[in-house]
Amino acid sequence: MAKTKIAVLISGRGSNMQALIDATRDENFPAEIVVVVSNNPDSPGLEIARAAGIEIDVVNHRDFDDREAFEEALDATIKLYGARIVCLAGFMRILTPSFTERWRDLLINIHPSLLPAFKGLHTHERALEAGVRIHGCTVHYVRPEMDDGPIIGQAAVPVLPGDTPETLAERVLQAEHKLYPQCVALACSGKARVAGERVRLQVREFGAELLMNPHD
Ligand code: GRF
Repeated sequence: MAKTKIAVLISGRGSNMQALIDATRDENFPAEIVVVVSNNPDSPGLEIARAAGIEIDVVNHRDFDDREAFEEALDATIKLYGARIVCLAGFMRILTPSFTERWRDLLINIHPSLLPAFKGLHTHERALEAGVRIHGCTVHYVRPEMDDGPIIGQAAVPVLPGDTPETLAERVLQAEHKLYPQCVALACSGKARVAGERVRLQVREFGAELLMNPHD
């Protein structure tokens, strides 16, 4: 079956991007990465992608007068490489409704909390402050509101005695690296469709360690 062409958008180190690259090496993975785009020319992830033989491009937000012009250029770049689905992987620019609506149900994000808890930044510190016993990560289709939108999958990790934001972040990150490729595979194979602002999953079995929206 033809693979879905995806673009991965990054701003920083790119470990989730790396997990997606690794997943695409499996011939049965339903997607191929046609480009990695960063808004930050100094993203370490760009070099990782280049070394993996993947096309890279930079759309530096500092080169544009306003968000609209930046997003127009971003959109044009993604389309230039023929991507049909866009995966945000630590992309640190807020996207306006004009962009998110253009890519409605085709734009996916990973967030380091069990949404809708702890939207925004510093999720691990806030989880520790709140005293939650379970934390994790969420992959979702993007809507105009920040860290909002139909949930494709979630992975939970325990909060352990003595955890610091760093140790908790590392545990969540390991879960992110498993969850994101699984969710991208579901989206790209048409097995995670949005219906009524929720995701309907067509899967026979859920990954043993992942809480993949067991209601559907
Ligand atoms: C991850 O924690 C991701 O959930 C969040 O930003 C971080 C990016 O890390 N959106 P990396 O660049 O993928 O290593």
